[in-house]
Amino acid sequence: MCGIFAVSGQEKNAGSVVLRGLKKLEYRGYDSWGVAIRNLSGGIEVDKEVGKISSVQHKFGSAKEAIGHTRWATHGGVTKKNAHPHKVGGVTIVHNGIFENYQVWKKKLNKNSFQSETDTEIIAGMLETSLVKKKEITKKEVAECIREVCAEIQGRFGILVMVEGVSGIFAARRGSPLILGRGKKETYIASDIPAFLEKTNTVNYLDDDEMVYIQEGKVEFSNLKTGALVKKRDIKVSWKTEEAEKGEWPHFMIKEIFDQKDTIARAINHDDKLLNKAAKLLQSANGAYFVACGTAHKVAMAAEYFFTEISGRKINVVPASEMTSFEKFVNKKTAIIAVSQSGETADVLEILERGKKRGAKILALTNVESSSIARLAHVHLPIKAGPEKAVASTKAATSQMALLFLLAFADSGQINFGRFILRSTAESINDLINPRYEERIRRVAKKIVKHPNLFIIGRKSLYPMALESAIKIQEVSYIHAQGFAAGELKHGPIALIEKGTPCLVLGGGQETVSNATELKARGAFIIGISPNRQDVFDEWLKVPDCNGAQAIATIIPVQILAYHLAVLRGLDPDMPRNLAKSVTVK
Ligand code: G6P
Repeated sequence: MCGIFAVSGQEKNAGSVVLRGLKKLEYRGYDSWGVAIRNLSGGIEVDKEVGKISSVQHKFGSAKEAIGHTRWATHGGVTKKNAHPHKVGGVTIVHNGIFENYQVWKKKLNKNSFQSETDTEIIAGMLETSLVKKKEITKKEVAECIREVCAEIQGRFGILVMVEGVSGIFAARRGSPLILGRGKKETYIASDIPAFLEKTNTVNYLDDDEMVYIQEGKVEFSNLKTGALVKKRDIKVSWKTEEAEKGEWPHFMIKEIFDQKDTIARAINHDDKLLNKAAKLLQSANGAYFVACGTAHKVAMAAEYFFTEISGRKINVVPASEMTSFEKFVNKKTAIIAVSQSGETADVLEILERGKKRGAKILALTNVESSSIARLAHVHLPIKAGPEKAVASTKAATSQMALLFLLAFADSGQINFGRFILRSTAESINDLINPRYEERIRRVAKKIVKHPNLFIIGRKSLYPMALESAIKIQEVSYIHAQGFAAGELKHGPIALIEKGTPCLVLGGGQETVSNATELKARGAFIIGISPNRQDVFDEWLKVPDCNGAQAIATIIPVQILAYHLAVLRGLDPDMPRNLAKSVTVK
């Protein structure tokens, strides 16, 4: 949610380096963009505009340092004035997060000159106010002021700051991700690795309440509360540049759907030791909760069925934003399992922080290794799906499901059997996804694309997949889609069925087929997704029989369908309106 990026180097093209890096972070927000450069005479120049950054061609003046931002609007509408960077006096800043008490400070500063409605401009104002009180302004004073100001901020932030008259760039974080990339003679700071991955894969992760100062190759980490210097370990990330690019593919979403030919097998490529450690964490707990948001929450719901069926363990599933109501049950015997692609989702992070304080044991499954959630966990299982850039989560979801399925087998002491099932699932998925299959689904999409409503039903672990199917279709095609437990149909939703209403039926079990028949009797157009054709299906999308891991295979044709519905409607599936990939605000 909002991408931020900074570079300090010896070359004079910092503006275009930042613009290029921001384009790779656009999935974090695409309401507006902006870049500030320090020109060669030391002045700071800001360029910003409303709209997506991907199509921007901009010529910047010569500069060795620049910061930039691609915005997902929170405080203040989508306007040029609200676009970052924000400049107050000699201070220029970009920000990812939410400054909750900014109104208090806006009043205190009493500056009529604030240009925007944003919380960020107030941070710039606070910094400028404390800087002008200093006798001289050097790097030391700027760092002091940043520490003072950050102490006043309630909420989450990742900020990048440039100050006129002081070379170098300052960054600080609490709650929002910041990662430093080490080039040869230049240094980068970004909210996610793809921004600089083509330049370097050597990184340092900033932790909460840390600050860093960069100037060309010079890097100084310090504690944001005390100012004490901090040493950091260099980490080599394994993501490859090509994985973060869409190459010949028209969109990231379809590329990532096809990536599932490999990613499912990769997700389960873990040694038994780590899986057993994770299983032990569950076994030693007295009560366990899955907490997650969006697609990851639907994955957790499917995993609730996996654990129930495979290891006989009941795990409660709660959307992270609702978990506070159940916190009174969290204690040192509780296991909290966080499922998150980004590892940065604010609602999940907050529950984990609070759960940890109550003594709970944290198990996390994330795609972004070394993300905040991964680092907070007692045990971390990476899902190894590689960068996922499309806002709609596809490959991360199936990798999460595969790994949780395997974990349920680890919990029951049968890892090898679980692996056997998943390997054959991965192989049949590899066979399934090909251009011919995609074309078959595109033709089905053409038949239903004009309908304003669509319903999806499923039972057991295909019930959460019905919910997930609805998310996929809504978010990229803007067609109203709703998922139901198949048995719930006759308790209300069936009233919505009219002649020709498209209904996706996930699974071909007898009871589900009966429900499909009830729909068809009311005129529904039935698209069945199952291993076997059923008479009731008007269209049939075949999926392999996956022996308990059916949810993993079944969601894939729906992902392809959602993608083509979006494309047929002339929409950009990678950047649905109003959404962002990584939601780092509550
Ligand atoms: C956003 C994304 C979803 C994602 C959800 C949770 O809403 O658009 O695709 O499922 O956040 O994100 P996480 O990174 O925690 O899985």
